[in-house]
Amino acid sequence: MKVRFLGHAGVQLVAGGHEFVFDPFISNNPSAGAALDELNPDVIFVTHAHGDHWGDTPELAKRTGALVVGTAEIADYAADLGLKSHGMNIGGSHEFAFGRVSLTQAWHSSSFPDGTYGGTPTGVVLEVGGKRVYHAGDTSLFSDMSFMAARQLDLAFLPIGDNYTMGPAAALEAVKLVKPRFVIPIHYDTFPLLKQDAQAFKLAVEESTSTSCLVLAPGEEVTL
Ligand code: NI
Ligand code: MN
Repeated sequence: MKVRFLGHAGVQLVAGGHEFVFDPFISNNPSAGAALDELNPDVIFVTHAHGDHWGDTPELAKRTGALVVGTAEIADYAADLGLKSHGMNIGGSHEFAFGRVSLTQAWHSSSFPDGTYGGTPTGVVLEVGGKRVYHAGDTSLFSDMSFMAARQLDLAFLPIGDNYTMGPAAALEAVKLVKPRFVIPIHYDTFPLLKQDAQAFKLAVEESTSTSCLVLAPGEEVTL
């Protein structure tokens, strides 16, 4: 599985013969790690409707024909724009041709840039190519993250930027509950407000858990 951090909450995964993009916020992202035309997803996951997550979904999905997956409200909004979409909701899983997807709880809010309600915010668990990946979306720490441990996740993307989401201290507690093999911090350093020391987070994670923390610069890629 190839994993590329696109900056902010944006992630590109190549696994099982498919390309997946989570939360493509590229063109208005001052710290974007890729150009939009480098991305050719089959599937776009949108964790919630805020502009820094919905982002470039319309343009990207229009060009590539990608399936947009998110809450029923996000899927309806995408369908109204003529995009292919599949609506789900929290607690639900679906077996797609490319793999299994579950939407999970996230404590946050979710409205589109035009004010349209986006349903509840979510996290996403994707099982593909024998790997299980969790993108937490924007969320606070919550105790039910402990249920995630049973999924034996290979990789978790957790926000550490604080202010709108968990900061590093809460994200460390989240790692202890979720117990992934690898964690990649996201949603930080995009703007001055979200400035964080990701290396300090990595040290704290690896000192107090058995999870390995990968700190990726925007645009950087790893193979797991
Ligand atoms: Ni948000
Ligand atoms: Mn956000």
